[in-house]
Amino acid sequence: MATLLFLLLLLSTLSSPCSSSASSDSLSMDSSLSVENTDDVLTSPGGVFSAGFFPVGDNAYVFSIWFSEALCGSNCSVVWMANRDQPVNGKGSKLSLLKSGNIVLTDAGRITAWSTNTVTRSSAKLYLHDNGNLALYDIEGEVLWQSFDFPTDTLLPEQPLFKDMQLVSSTSKTNYSSGFYKLYFDTDNVLRLLYDGPEASSIYWPDPEFMSWEAGRSTFNSTRVAFFNSLGNFSSSDGFTFTAADYGDRLQRRLKLDVDGNLRLYSRGDGGGGTWVVSWQAMTQTCRIHGVCGPNSLCNYDPGSGKRCSCLPGFKIKSFSDWSLGCEPEFNLSCTRSEIEFVQLKNVEFFGYDYAFYPNYTLQMCEDLCSRSCNCKGFQFKFIKHDYPSNIPYCYPKNALLNGHHSPNFEGDIYLKVPRNSSLSNIRVNQLIGLECSGLATKHLDRTYPKRQEDRSVRFVLLFSIAVGVVEFFGIFLVWCFLIRTHQNSGAGELQGYSPIATHFRRFTLSELKKATRGFREEIGRGAGGIVYKGMLSDHRVVAIKRLNEAYQGEAEFQAEVSTIGKLNHMNLIDLWGYCAEGKHRLLVYKYMEHGSLAENLTSNALDSEKRFDIAVGTAKGLAYLHEECLEWVLHCDVKPQNILLDSDYHPKVSDFGLSQPVNRGSRTNPRFSRIRGTRGYMAPEWVLNLPITSKVDVYSYGMVLLEMVTGKSPYEENEHRMLVKRIRENMNTANATDSWVEKIIDPRQRCKTCHEPSS
Ligand SMILES: *[C@@H]1O[C@H](CO)[C@@H](O)[C@H](O)[C@H]1NC(C)=O
Ligand SMILES: *[C@@H]1O[C@H](CO)[C@@H](O)[C@H](O)[C@H]1NC(C)=O
Ligand SMILES: *[C@@H]1O[C@H](CO)[C@@H](O)[C@H](O)[C@H]1NC(C)=O
Ligand SMILES: *[C@@H]1O[C@H](CO)[C@@H](O)[C@H](O)[C@H]1NC(C)=O
Ligand SMILES: *[C@@H]1O[C@H](CO)[C@@H](O)[C@H](O)[C@H]1NC(C)=O
Ligand SMILES: *[C@@H]1O[C@H](CO)[C@@H](O)[C@H](O)[C@H]1NC(C)=O
Ligand SMILES: *[C@@H]1O[C@H](CO)[C@@H](O)[C@H](O)[C@H]1NC(C)=O
Repeated sequence: MATLLFLLLLLSTLSSPCSSSASSDSLSMDSSLSVENTDDVLTSPGGVFSAGFFPVGDNAYVFSIWFSEALCGSNCSVVWMANRDQPVNGKGSKLSLLKSGNIVLTDAGRITAWSTNTVTRSSAKLYLHDNGNLALYDIEGEVLWQSFDFPTDTLLPEQPLFKDMQLVSSTSKTNYSSGFYKLYFDTDNVLRLLYDGPEASSIYWPDPEFMSWEAGRSTFNSTRVAFFNSLGNFSSSDGFTFTAADYGDRLQRRLKLDVDGNLRLYSRGDGGGGTWVVSWQAMTQTCRIHGVCGPNSLCNYDPGSGKRCSCLPGFKIKSFSDWSLGCEPEFNLSCTRSEIEFVQLKNVEFFGYDYAFYPNYTLQMCEDLCSRSCNCKGFQFKFIKHDYPSNIPYCYPKNALLNGHHSPNFEGDIYLKVPRNSSLSNIRVNQLIGLECSGLATKHLDRTYPKRQEDRSVRFVLLFSIAVGVVEFFGIFLVWCFLIRTHQNSGAGELQGYSPIATHFRRFTLSELKKATRGFREEIGRGAGGIVYKGMLSDHRVVAIKRLNEAYQGEAEFQAEVSTIGKLNHMNLIDLWGYCAEGKHRLLVYKYMEHGSLAENLTSNALDSEKRFDIAVGTAKGLAYLHEECLEWVLHCDVKPQNILLDSDYHPKVSDFGLSQPVNRGSRTNPRFSRIRGTRGYMAPEWVLNLPITSKVDVYSYGMVLLEMVTGKSPYEENEHRMLVKRIRENMNTANATDSWVEKIIDPRQRCKTCHEPSS
């Protein structure tokens, strides 16, 4: 009988080679999929999705749906999971569609790990569709149950998120069980991201500092539905919409609430080839995601990984494998005023957990307040803008230190309560940043399965081994077919040309850019590095394309440098959308700035004093980000009005920092600066005097730009930039009480403008 069976199977294999795959798109009543049988996988009719048992650890499986991809193993892009919190055994587990109409997942053939609890009197069938939906239909074609109604951490195109649904992140990259981050519709109809941790919970998107309507959300549409389409257009009933950076057809897309709490839209070339790239994300500043670093720690921006955690002074990390647990104190705090002191940490913000707030409190008053309360762990102290008489200080005592975040743009400090004489008081924030010690240990699920007592007959063993042989034969055959298929597919996939570098960031081909600029026709600028052309991409985004003069470095170096620039992300830095490196051509693709450079606008009347002020502040913020917030310390080295661009609202964006190189923090001499850089008039004396080059060179140039904005005189025109400085100094010295020196130096055009305004 066994021989007969073997022959039968062999015959069926030979009669239907490669073309017909062993897997089907549906599961009929009274049949099941087994974890042991690798062929027990449902494949959607077009082959886009597969459903079956997915390995999540040693001998632990979860019934899942993933994007079909040959040999992706445990790296497949899973879009749905049935039993993520209760994985099943690798032996004896199966998913069955019972006669009653219920779908049941049994662990090791005994315990029910998951079920749909559906009932039907007629017959039913389970289908996997090409949109990724797994649906159970009764005989009338009515949906009894579908996976789209129970999303895990991913939405697919046209899959709606309704009011009672939520996306829940995975615990970690290696542990797929439910984590702490959630995307859901709140009771006020607003779509939100929530950190719901074991000790704390708080909303971080939209920005909790704004009211819903300030963040562009409506609270009045209680439909509560959100979805995106295959073109990459997302819309939600609260008015929130976005379009993907690569808006358009021909792409596979998925919206995933990632392990790190960020909501990201991923896309890749059709046909499954290539890598997934991020085409949109909810949080550009990863450190603003709550809970990333756990209690008593600080999050810092890191261009490589997005974030970096470090413990507060006097605290030590709880678990090296999991930063979300944060840090614990190494000291015991006394309640006596004389035994404690406060450590100031500049530009550090801890969100929430204030037990009160006190306006117009001096630092001394705030310290007294916090030291009187044993529960006070420290306080936030900052000045808030008021009309009259000036900024007043606010005091926010805190009973927990969560969501800590360091940013040079944050104008406020935290004062940490520590024991007196603990020698912690002279630690500075920048010293903390380097102190991270993280080793991400990957854990394995430990699973043992119960031993069966049954005695198996010799006949059964014989049958079994033959069956295994056949399955193996099948397996090898299938793998071979698969290999041929993938080999044919992968070539097309790679041509897509998407590089997984950073958000909104891709590699362009030279022909694409030629087309965008209509053969490099419209020149809009010319600088030391190259010529800038205006162009329009195929998705109608208007861009400025800079063609670098010569292939000044190899392709790999160029790509590495460009990817670093691509990761710098700040509202006062120019957005780099992509690059092109073909042969000896090197091009950079930037967002087009409607109002050109500051240099072009200085002489026009478009800039009133208020705009000038905002431009000065914005430029300073952009430079501060380059100097301090990026861990790779970037010097600009050529700050001048030509390199400060203005968008449609006259917001400044610093540009041309691409060719400056990151330098090591703290190293005094830098061998990389072998030649003088900068522009006459704006160049710091360090260059000429051959002194160490530090971020101060940018500050000097920025100062010259400021003077130019105020006086309307270019330091370049004045022959010697020192002339301009000298003249202003003289004016300051000769000024007397009745005759303001400011009036003397200010740009006459500006003076006229302000004197017409009655209020100022
Ligand atoms: C999964 O990805 C990791 C890292 O990218 C790689 O080392 C590993 O070989 C991959 N596994 C499979 C089965 O492709
Ligand atoms: C995206 O969808 C919204 C709402 O459905 C619509 O108003 C908007 O025009 C769409 N955008 C694009 C680029 O298709
Ligand atoms: C509420 O949102 C839904 C979906 O976006 C939309 O179809 C509907 O018109 C909205 N209702 C109101 C009253 O704005
Ligand atoms: C803090 O107090 C606990 C018990 O009260 C003690 O075991 C521990 O050693 C103390 N830690 C320090 C740093 O003094
Ligand atoms: C701190 O040190 C000073 C001298 O350095 C000493 O007078 C004082 O008693 C110490 N305070 C505590 C709380 O140990
Ligand atoms: C702040 O407090 C000071 C004295 O403590 C007082 O003179 C001043 O008017 C207060 N300012 C405001 C804005 O309340
Ligand atoms: C996965 O995470 C869950 C929830 O945090 C935890 O209970 C479980 O032990 C983790 N599994 C492993 C193997 O670490």
